[in-house]
Amino acid sequence: MKRGFFITFEGGEGAGKSTQIDRLAYKLRDNRYAVTVTREPGGSAGAEAIRHVILSGAAEPFGPTMEALLFAAARSDHIEQLIRPALKRGKVVLCDRFVDSWRVYQDDVDPALMLEIERVSLNGVMPDLTLIFDLDPEEGLRRAAARRGKDAADRFERETLAIHRRRRKAFLDIALKEPRRCVVIDASLAPEVVEEAVTHAVFAALPERGLAGRHAEQGA
Ligand code: TYD
Repeated sequence: MKRGFFITFEGGEGAGKSTQIDRLAYKLRDNRYAVTVTREPGGSAGAEAIRHVILSGAAEPFGPTMEALLFAAARSDHIEQLIRPALKRGKVVLCDRFVDSWRVYQDDVDPALMLEIERVSLNGVMPDLTLIFDLDPEEGLRRAAARRGKDAADRFERETLAIHRRRRKAFLDIALKEPRRCVVIDASLAPEVVEEAVTHAVFAALPERGLAGRHAEQGA
């Protein structure tokens, strides 16, 4: 049976994930892999509708559990509408943020409840490989502000430096706990150097999981 390969990109604000996702998608397609690029929160019609509610801060007054449930509802829709079908068709799925962002950012919700919601919303879909972009949050927020220009910071970017530092450590802790799935990428380096590290990590992992051969949409 054909089975795709699911790669997620995680890390703090302004770490350069989207640039690297674009470059990797180009490289994979060049090697005749069938690629789907997506992001969270969002990626499906239902999840995109929820994205705006969350990132505008409209759900914030209703508390952290409400927000966590909204993220999870968006993820569930995204998985069932887009990710699982793409993987079934043998695609390499590249997703900008996924469950690790949820574990790290929604950290003021009861951990037992978080585990339950995670199990139900993922419904058996976990990344094969997760690249954690590690960057000093001060630098990350600077980059995010430069990229945004005059637009207002979103609900999460607005938080304090201390919170962003805590998140950086939480991502690194996940990498320590799940070394088979996670690779830490030093996002402070020049984009070309980061690209090399990403390419190396991805192409090292792909064959190991059974996608060694070139993989065209037509089923080559
Ligand atoms: P976005 O601008 O899409 O992300 P990025 O910072 O990667 O450019 O904003 C998504 C924000 O939502 C980001 O601050 C992380 C946060 N987030 C959560 O809090 N929980 C989640 O489960 C996900 C997927 C994202």
